[in-house]
Amino acid sequence: MLNIALFGPPGCGKGTQSKILIEKFGLTYISTGDLLRKEIAAQSNLGLAAKKIIDKGGLVDDDLIVKLIEKHVENNHEHGILFDGFPRTHVQCYILDGILADMGHSLTAMLSLEAPEDILMTRMLERAKISGRSDDNETVIKMRFKEYQEKTLPVVEFYQRQKKVHIINGVGTIEEISQRIDNVINSLLIARN
Ligand code: AP5
Ligand code: MG
Repeated sequence: MLNIALFGPPGCGKGTQSKILIEKFGLTYISTGDLLRKEIAAQSNLGLAAKKIIDKGGLVDDDLIVKLIEKHVENNHEHGILFDGFPRTHVQCYILDGILADMGHSLTAMLSLEAPEDILMTRMLERAKISGRSDDNETVIKMRFKEYQEKTLPVVEFYQRQKKVHIINGVGTIEEISQRIDNVINSLLIARN
């Protein structure tokens, strides 16, 4: 099993690169951001509670994320799971490790996509023209950057202690970045065999 957490600030390309990876490696895709937007569209209690936070650029409470994961994670992952935007807090690291341990597995690697905020802002404001995402505006994006710096970045240290973090330059074309990710995954696969 190849269990990957794709990590990085808002707009770094997690969703974009995830699409390529799940195709290539046949992985099950779990994006907490996408799942939350589904809950919002369905107007569930969970979705309504999450929307208030997402619209301000904050992080949704860990207990809601636990409920979200319990609701959507099934137990049949032949080739592994790709987590996009999860874990995002220390508590979520323990949740993730617990979920995988229950399946008899562990996280293979955390791939951390890095890019400067001015580039990320430009990408997301461009996306705002078509995304319909209520959090794609300058004020909320700045808040998302702040939350990322304060609460999410420490997650890297958690997995650095397990020697599982691979930093990837997230500046360049989608294809260039995809190639960098491929190089890391191929080296992981070679090391395992
Ligand atoms: P989430 O949906 O995860 O949003 P995010 O982390 O802010 O990241 P984005 O989805 O905005 O960007 P991305 O990295 O996926 O980049 P993308 O590929 O789209 O979370 C939203 C909110 O939900 C959070 O703020 C929080 O409130 C809540 N939430 C979610 N998970 C949570 C959790 N676990 N705990 C607590 N709260 C949680 O690319 C961005 C744009 O750039 C696209 O238009 C794309 O086409 C373009 N692009 C991509 N790559 C390139 C490139 N190389 N060059 C040029 N353009 C590019
Ligand atoms: Mg995304």
